[in-house]
Amino acid sequence: MAKETTLEDIISLCKRRGFIYQGSDIYGGLSGTWDYGPLGLMIKDQVKRLWWERFVDNRSDIYGVDAAILMNPKVWIASGHVGGFADPLVEDLKTKKRYRADHVLEAAGFNVSGKSLADMDTMIKENKIKSIDGNDFGEVRQFNMMFKTNIGAIESDDNVVYLRPETAQGMFVNFKNIQDTFHPKLPFGMAQIGKAFRNEIAPRDFVFRVREFEQMEIEYFTHPQRADEAFSHFQKEIKEFILDIGLDKEKLHELEIGDEDRAHYSSRTIDFEYDFPIGRKELFGLANRTDFDLKAHSEGSKVDLSYFDEETKERFIPHCIEPSFGLDRTILAILSTAYATDDMGEEERIVLRLHKNIAPYRIAVLPLVKNKEELVNKAKEVFEMVKNIATKNGIAKSKIVYDETQSIGKRYRRQDEIGTPICLTVDFDSLEKGTVTLRDRDRGKQEVVKIEDLENIFK
Ligand code: GAP
Repeated sequence: MAKETTLEDIISLCKRRGFIYQGSDIYGGLSGTWDYGPLGLMIKDQVKRLWWERFVDNRSDIYGVDAAILMNPKVWIASGHVGGFADPLVEDLKTKKRYRADHVLEAAGFNVSGKSLADMDTMIKENKIKSIDGNDFGEVRQFNMMFKTNIGAIESDDNVVYLRPETAQGMFVNFKNIQDTFHPKLPFGMAQIGKAFRNEIAPRDFVFRVREFEQMEIEYFTHPQRADEAFSHFQKEIKEFILDIGLDKEKLHELEIGDEDRAHYSSRTIDFEYDFPIGRKELFGLANRTDFDLKAHSEGSKVDLSYFDEETKERFIPHCIEPSFGLDRTILAILSTAYATDDMGEEERIVLRLHKNIAPYRIAVLPLVKNKEELVNKAKEVFEMVKNIATKNGIAKSKIVYDETQSIGKRYRRQDEIGTPICLTVDFDSLEKGTVTLRDRDRGKQEVVKIEDLENIFK
C-alpha cells in the first residue's frame, strides 16, 4: 500500500533538493519565514505566469497593477483593518507562550464557529483547557495582525505605517486611476501579485501559515445586479486554474462560509479547501466584497469612487468580487500532490509527479559517465540541440538541464525527486549509432531513440 505523505517528507525533500529553506537558517531561523531556493522559485514563477496568463493576458477586462507595499495608514483605517484585523490570542500564564484561542479550542474538539472572544474565554475556563505545557491560560483577547513600522527618520506615533496584510487594498485605491486612464466599462477588474505580511500568533505547518507570504488577487467590479454572475464565473475559473497547475480536482472542496464566520466586508464567501498532508484546509478564497471597500475609501479619502454608466445614465458604486489565491499554500498543495514513493527497478524511490507546466526542468541531459571526453562532448552537443528544440517550441532554454555529477543511478534519483519528466542519457551507442536513451519519469519506460528524431518526438 502506498505510504501517506507527511509534511515532514515534503519539508525534508524541499531542503535536500533546494526548493525551500528555513528563513535565516544559519542564525537558527526566524519563525514564520521561509526562503525559496532555485527550484522552489522556478515552480513559484511558473504558477504566477500561468495565473497571469489565465486572468490577465488571455482576457481584455482585467488590468494588472503593482502597488506599493507601504500605504498611507488611512487606507487601513478605512478598510477596517486597524479596527478589526485581529485573531483571538491566549497566553500560557507560566511560560508566556502565545496561542490562537480558536486553534486551542479546535484541538480540544470544540467547534468555534461564530464564537465571540468572551465565548471562547468561557469555553477555555469552563472546560479547564490547559496549554501543551500543562498550565492555565489567561484571558482571551484581540491581537491585531498587522506589522507596524515607522516611515522617515523619526520613530513616533505620527508616522506609523503598516506592512500590507492583503494586496487587495492596493487595487481599491487605484480604482479611480484605472477609470481615469483607461475608461473601462463595467464589468472590469484589477489583478496583482505581491507580498503580504501578517503577524500570525502561531505560524505553523511549513509554508501553510507564515508571517510573510505572497498573494495573487483579483478585484472584479460589476453592477450590483451582476455580482452573482461574476461570482459564479470566478468559481468556475478557480476550478479550471487548479488543473493548469496540476492540482487534483478530487482534493478540492468548496465550503460556503456562514454569516457568523465571514469577514466584515463580505456578503458571501466560499473557501476553496484542499486535502493537504495536514488535513483539509483553506487554499483559496472567493468573496463578494459588495461596495464595502470603494464606499469606505470614498468616505475615507473624500474622493468620489462611483461609476457612471453612459448608457443607462446611472451613477453607483460598483460591487466587487474577489478571488484570492495564496501562492505559498499553492506551492505546498503542488508539492504534496506530486510527492510519491514507488518501486522503480529494484529500489524504492521518491518521485515528484509534477505537471510538465510546473516542473522546474522539462528535460535533463545526462552523459552515462563523465570521464570519457568523447561521450561528454556528445552529451553537450545533445544538450545544445535540445535547448534549441525547446526554444522553437516556445519553452525557455533554462528548462533544459545538463547533469554529470555522481553516478547515473544517483542522477536519475535526483531528477525524479525534482520532478523532471524526461531524462536523456547519452551512452556509448550515442557515439556509434547516434541514439540516446529516453527515460520517462512516470512510466519508468526506457526507450532508445535516434538523436535525429528528437525534434519530432518533442514536438
Ligand atoms: N484579500 C482577501 C484576503 O486576504 P484571506 O482569506 O485572509 O483573504 C487569502 O487570504 C489567501 O491568502 C488565503 O486563502 C491563503 O491562501 C493566503 N493566506 C492568508 N494568510 C496566510 C498566511 N498566514 N500564510 C500563508 N498564506 C496565507
